[in-house]
Amino acid sequence: MSRLVVVSNRVAPIDEGKQTAGGLAVAVLAALKKTGGIWFGWSGNVVEGESQDQPTLTEAGRLTYATLDLGRRDHDEYYNGFANQTLWPLFHFRLGLIAVSRRTRQGYERVNAWFADRLHPLLRPDDMIWVHDYHLIPFGEELRRKGCTQRMGFFLHTPFPPPELITALPNHADLIRELCAYDLVGFHTVTDLRGFLDYIRQETDGQVEQRGDEETATVRAFGRTLLAKVFPISIDTAQLESIARTSARSRQTERLRESLVGRRLIIGVDRLDYSKGLPQRFEAFEQLLLSYPEHCNRVTFLQVAPPSREDVPEYIAIRRELSELAGRINGRFAEFDWMPIRYLNRSFGQRTLAGFYRAANVGFVTPLRDGMNLVAKEYVACQDPDNPGVLVLSQFAGAARELEEALIVNPFDVEGVADALQRALTMPLPERKERHGALMRRLRNHDIGWWRESYVDALTRAPYD
Ligand code: F6P
Repeated sequence: MSRLVVVSNRVAPIDEGKQTAGGLAVAVLAALKKTGGIWFGWSGNVVEGESQDQPTLTEAGRLTYATLDLGRRDHDEYYNGFANQTLWPLFHFRLGLIAVSRRTRQGYERVNAWFADRLHPLLRPDDMIWVHDYHLIPFGEELRRKGCTQRMGFFLHTPFPPPELITALPNHADLIRELCAYDLVGFHTVTDLRGFLDYIRQETDGQVEQRGDEETATVRAFGRTLLAKVFPISIDTAQLESIARTSARSRQTERLRESLVGRRLIIGVDRLDYSKGLPQRFEAFEQLLLSYPEHCNRVTFLQVAPPSREDVPEYIAIRRELSELAGRINGRFAEFDWMPIRYLNRSFGQRTLAGFYRAANVGFVTPLRDGMNLVAKEYVACQDPDNPGVLVLSQFAGAARELEEALIVNPFDVEGVADALQRALTMPLPERKERHGALMRRLRNHDIGWWRESYVDALTRAPYD
């Protein structure tokens, strides 16, 4: 079996037990433990002066972490700049927010080339290389330039927009050519794949071949042949079910329950990001209290929103906006013994959140656009099957494609979302159980192991020409 080399902007903390393990970390760690290999990327540290010259190698069984500190300039141009002020808003359909600058674009290309340079000496001829996310699109082409012929796959964790949006990016063809340097390009949903294929059809002289399967296509473009395919990421369903059973009785969950004094609970958990639709979500909760005043002093909305990308101006702005909104809504509706919105700018570990999800009557997941959204899947997996809560889910989250039995909403339609909350809060037990049962069947069949194995299997079969 070939050794696996995983490349991602962030490398999960070495102390696996401590951290909230995201889908990427769970999948990658399991795959690397199986085949042995390297996990290569940014250490998460920013240093004054130049980026670290050689990676720090840390052995953990058959797995080697290879991490690099980024210098301030590289971090500003590559991570804060092109990745998070250009590609992130572009890929989340927010053209009004994109910053276009040659300096950050060059920084992005430069850091990708530098990363590739640092990984190159660690590679073996038979390695399989799996690169993750929008920070690292040029990485594969940089390795090819150095003569690497290994199988290389890329997985995009964000949405991929239609060509009408991509073409707003200067030199967009270069970015798509870089994507075509991989043998396998994975997307979360059919819509994302279609965006990529439409770009190839409309903007290049390449060809797309789809044989009756809307989830898979062979692409011939920029002198290369690659497979583009849908692989919806998922969660470790069985493990989370078991954690939630235990966490249901944890001290923190008990404290949360006691603090509610019999009130119903709506929960939202998101990085503090403008793509998550938090202002509209707060307004929808306010609308619930206006349209259905019987919920005043009977329902609490707990929103966990750890700050993210705090150097980027749009993230500073959304943080200010949400603090004001939460303050205004609470000021308007609060009683001396009830705070309608509990808004927390901090994170919690996976075990704590699992207990909170289980205690919540409604999971409130309403991004304006999201690649997948694993919180939606986690909320479902953490429910008590005998008395499950209801998921209210945005039609614009990748997860809505699979989680059809959730209450699917348009997050821009504040009144419609308030009505969905009302329906969730009043849904009879048999309907809740039926919906939850159907959702769980899908999450058990398509868990994180399934995602990882289907991707790695497809990559093993490369090249595709
Ligand atoms: O899902 C998109 C993503 O950028 C991941 O790649 C990343 O792990 C996560 O969001 C958190 O973002 P950041 O690494 O910028 O804190």
